[in-house]
Amino acid sequence: MSVPAAKLPLPELAEMKRRDEKIVMVTAYDAPGARFAEDAGVDMILVGDTAAMVVLGHSGTVAVTMDEMLFLTRTVVNAARRPIVVGDMPFGSYQVSDEEAVRNAIRFVKEAGADVVKLEGAGPSVSRARAIVGAGIAVMGHVGLTPQSATMLGGFKTQGRTARAAAKLVDDALELEEAGCFAIVLEAVPSPVAAEITKRLSVPTIGIGAGAACDGQVLVYHDLLGLSEGHLPRFVKRYANLSLEIRDALAAYVAEVRSGEFPEEQHTYSIPEEELALLRDAVQQVEHDHERG
Ligand code: KIV
Repeated sequence: MSVPAAKLPLPELAEMKRRDEKIVMVTAYDAPGARFAEDAGVDMILVGDTAAMVVLGHSGTVAVTMDEMLFLTRTVVNAARRPIVVGDMPFGSYQVSDEEAVRNAIRFVKEAGADVVKLEGAGPSVSRARAIVGAGIAVMGHVGLTPQSATMLGGFKTQGRTARAAAKLVDDALELEEAGCFAIVLEAVPSPVAAEITKRLSVPTIGIGAGAACDGQVLVYHDLLGLSEGHLPRFVKRYANLSLEIRDALAAYVAEVRSGEFPEEQHTYSIPEEELALLRDAVQQVEHDHERG
């Protein structure tokens, strides 16, 4: 019997930053994705609210609900042993008050088994993060492009491109660190700005479209595997083109069922000849009895 891998201790992430060892995070939304990510050696799995788009088919992230996120998080937790599982708090689950934020963070840990939670933004989110950490749940922050407030940011745009906006991002990240966040995602931020933030924080930064100076990187599972189709942000690197393979495989299946090529002998079950003969006799007898009324 193989011994399950031990969970990566959370303080190890800060140690990795200190040792200048890169931290790897990827999103996943189900058990197979979590297993593949774990076997590849990732340190953290984010059950991102990008699920709204890549799994549930919405055009943005705001529509996904707490119950949907809890369900998806549970499927990942069921399969992930060593990686830290991050439950992404959906829009509406922490905006109203610190109390509601704490209540929903507790649901992530208690009902879905998440190790930690993530929330977006600074401003009021700083107080939410502090309250959740105060309740004993570790929090990952997220600044820069925060998709839940994309409308207010003027769309899915790079953030911090003026000295003033960049200085605000530095302040936001410092405030989140001070509130107790154990790591901070920097999304769509110019690399030199992300480097400044990374230098000033003692907790790790995890970049997505924020350059190589971040302490770690995160990408969306469907994007890096080529399961997402259509336009992708410039920060995505595709490591595979699985949507093509899936399309080819499904088209081949459809064609083979229609032509009768599938299933073949090897895909079917047999019955001993004598049992088949008995079956035929029995069926004949039933038909005979039926005809005689
Ligand atoms: O929801 C998500 O997948 C995220 C990443 C893009 C960081 O927040």
